[in-house]
Amino acid sequence: MKVWGRILWTLLPGPRRKGGIWGSWAPHAPLVRLMSATELVSHWAAVFEEKGIPEARESSEYIVAHVLGAQTFQSLRPALWTQSLTPQQLQCVQEMSSHRLQRMPVQYILGEWDFQGLNLKMAPPVFIPRPETEELVDWVLEEEAQRPCALDAQGGPLILEIGCGSGAIALSLLSQLPQSRIIAVDKAEAAICLTHENAHRLQLQDRIRIVLLDVTLERSWAHLLPWGPVDLVVSNPPYIFHQDMEHLAPEILSYEDPAALDGGKEGMNVIIHILALASRLLKNSGSIFLEVDPRHPGLVGSWLRSQPDLHLELMAVRKDFCGRPRFMHIRKSGPQFDSPENAWPGLQLA
Ligand SMILES: C[S@@+](CC[C@H](N)C(=O)[O-])C[C@H]1O[C@@H](n2cnc3c(N)ncnc32)[C@H](O)[C@@H]1O
Repeated sequence: MKVWGRILWTLLPGPRRKGGIWGSWAPHAPLVRLMSATELVSHWAAVFEEKGIPEARESSEYIVAHVLGAQTFQSLRPALWTQSLTPQQLQCVQEMSSHRLQRMPVQYILGEWDFQGLNLKMAPPVFIPRPETEELVDWVLEEEAQRPCALDAQGGPLILEIGCGSGAIALSLLSQLPQSRIIAVDKAEAAICLTHENAHRLQLQDRIRIVLLDVTLERSWAHLLPWGPVDLVVSNPPYIFHQDMEHLAPEILSYEDPAALDGGKEGMNVIIHILALASRLLKNSGSIFLEVDPRHPGLVGSWLRSQPDLHLELMAVRKDFCGRPRFMHIRKSGPQFDSPENAWPGLQLA
């Protein structure tokens, strides 16, 4: 799903063709005869293509595969490729395809998506995890593997994720760092609910605390102080420059929460709050890992130099699979603020 995920996430709108042989065709009309999975994929791929729906064939394959109980068309048993679908299955494909014709992202239509090998529930308007964010998680895991273990009494890192969305980053870190614990913060109630649900689905709820909080509010850090100093802060914040928002694909603009994407004039509105908050909550030598726009490493680097009191230093920048500088590692080298050690066990889930 990783490769298709990359293809499905073209940020810019696809070609919009009008008219053509399907001009008078009613997409919601029931198909008159039972079709095989292969025929159905070709049929809807042609419809999507004609209507200018991006990733026409992939969308069609995902929908048909999902209705037949598989994650990808390629993973369907070959016997199912040529077998006719039942009328109920056909209707399901038809309904899901009509959502795709309205530019709903495939991830919302299927109601699930894979991230770092975890199957997560997806629901609009909660941000759909992007494939490049898997690279951010990989970087955090690499760095963690190099750190001395037994970081505290519980033996693993205490991680703070700001802007958890569906829980993709937090839950994949938890599943791959068995000793870790995570505080996952988001300002959107829908995101908090989905992270709860995904944590329970994956039976990771015991090691995650999910907190509804807007980190741009004054003294927001004070709400997190009782959890104890953290070893690591990770975030894929809203970082899109406001003027770039209008160029996003209809799939994004119509279905995903703009507050998950829009970072303000220079995409830094939430980032600077995360950095200020991280400086207060991190242990000395603690790390921050951020996913950003390619213009941000320069902007954030100079902003950090203008804020010496934060004691934060840009350590490294990494490129994404397209070769763009998209990930930042920042380290704190300064005193740890007073906060209770290991407040974790006594506190309740939000
Ligand atoms: C780009 S999404 C990332 C979601 C998830 N971490 C992922 O990578 O799939 C950014 C998230 O930050 C949250 N967010 C935006 N502004 C915030 C704020 N001021 N305080 C806390 N969370 C915020 C949004 O609700 C959204 O869920």
